[in-house]
Amino acid sequence: MIKPHGADALNARYVNDVTRRNTLLAEAESLPSIVLNSAAAANAVMLGAGYFTPLNGFMNRIEALSVTSRMQTPDGLFWPVPILNLTGDISGIRGAKRIALRDPNQEGKPVLAVMDVENIEEFSAEEIAIITEEVFGTLDATHPGVAVFQSSGRYCISGAIEVLNYSYFADEFEGTFKTAVEIRDEIRERGWETVVAFQTRNPMHLAHEELCRMAKERLNADGIVIHMLLGRLKAGDIPAGVRDACIRKMVEVYFPENTVMVNGYGFDMLYAGPREALLHAVFRQNMGATHLIVGRDHAGVGDFYGPFDAQAIFDDLEPNALEIEIFRADHTAWSKKLNKVVMMSEVEDHKPEDYVFLSGTKVREMLSEGVAPPPEFSRPEVARILMDHYQLEVMQTAVGE
Ligand code: ADX
Repeated sequence: MIKPHGADALNARYVNDVTRRNTLLAEAESLPSIVLNSAAAANAVMLGAGYFTPLNGFMNRIEALSVTSRMQTPDGLFWPVPILNLTGDISGIRGAKRIALRDPNQEGKPVLAVMDVENIEEFSAEEIAIITEEVFGTLDATHPGVAVFQSSGRYCISGAIEVLNYSYFADEFEGTFKTAVEIRDEIRERGWETVVAFQTRNPMHLAHEELCRMAKERLNADGIVIHMLLGRLKAGDIPAGVRDACIRKMVEVYFPENTVMVNGYGFDMLYAGPREALLHAVFRQNMGATHLIVGRDHAGVGDFYGPFDAQAIFDDLEPNALEIEIFRADHTAWSKKLNKVVMMSEVEDHKPEDYVFLSGTKVREMLSEGVAPPPEFSRPEVARILMDHYQLEVMQTAVGE
């Protein structure tokens, strides 16, 4: 089985032992504490679940700057995105060596993790700008990831953490939220060797479904892991519960049994395009996938990245940076001439009007009006779930909820 990134075994920072967890919870009540921002809480959940193996916790300033400029930690580990705990207010933890990290996303802000503070440093405004520009490729504050990052504060609290729960993910997405440890174990139990991971933050339409099928066939893979993002998204993106229902239905009806695992991870979308694609590859290797599908505008938003920038960035990696490989997909769409979903680079004599293209806005408009997109775009079962969701939204807006 493929090895975890930079380690022989997963480094999951969640405390499995109940007695120790209770001891830490009791200790945490007397420790100085801070309320994390949502991005840092998601980082803690990823560290807890083993996805960020081999990291022990949050990066310090030098590590973050090294990862930003060289995509390597100072000791040579490939890592594409700084894993930070940033805050604007350190008044409650100044000088503390051990602190509790509270969860901003749960009522009462319960303790999520306990941290051994290695350092509390302050990034200069210039350093924050450098990180933003390198990681997101832009300083434009209309980029949703940039907006979140730049409002997170400049104090960097670094150190190893022990994680005490999985925030809202475990309860809200029971059965779908899975740790890297659980997925790796399941892959091993199934005896899968070649495993394709599909990253998604959307309900899956026909092009996505076919992309998974093409990848599995061409790689002669044993199975597919559809691994959806369950954390925070930008306004307008479809809630995880609805996406989950769509994906499960699609898999149930259209894929042979025991060929697809459907699950998700607790992370807030960065919309960092190429750099996020690399991070996606790191944590899919950790969960045991041998391949990650990277298609058109992977993890992108608006026009911030070229359609295949997220594939090109893999070309420049040092040969041993990652063990997982990517499956590169060209733009896929339904061909009216061939009556099937195709990769556009693989068909001849096609003009734009020979494909079924629908913009996201158009699809949303149709669904809100209770009109199903054509079957060449969306499976009817998936369209039904989405129409119900949009119409409920329309009704709630009408009654002012
Ligand atoms: S993402 O932000 O999570 O990447 P999305 O859920 O839309 O967004 O995409 C999931 C994966 O499918 C990504 O690898 C993306 O590049 C790919 N993808 C989505 N739509 C297409 C398409 N029409 N053609 C090719 N690849 C696509």
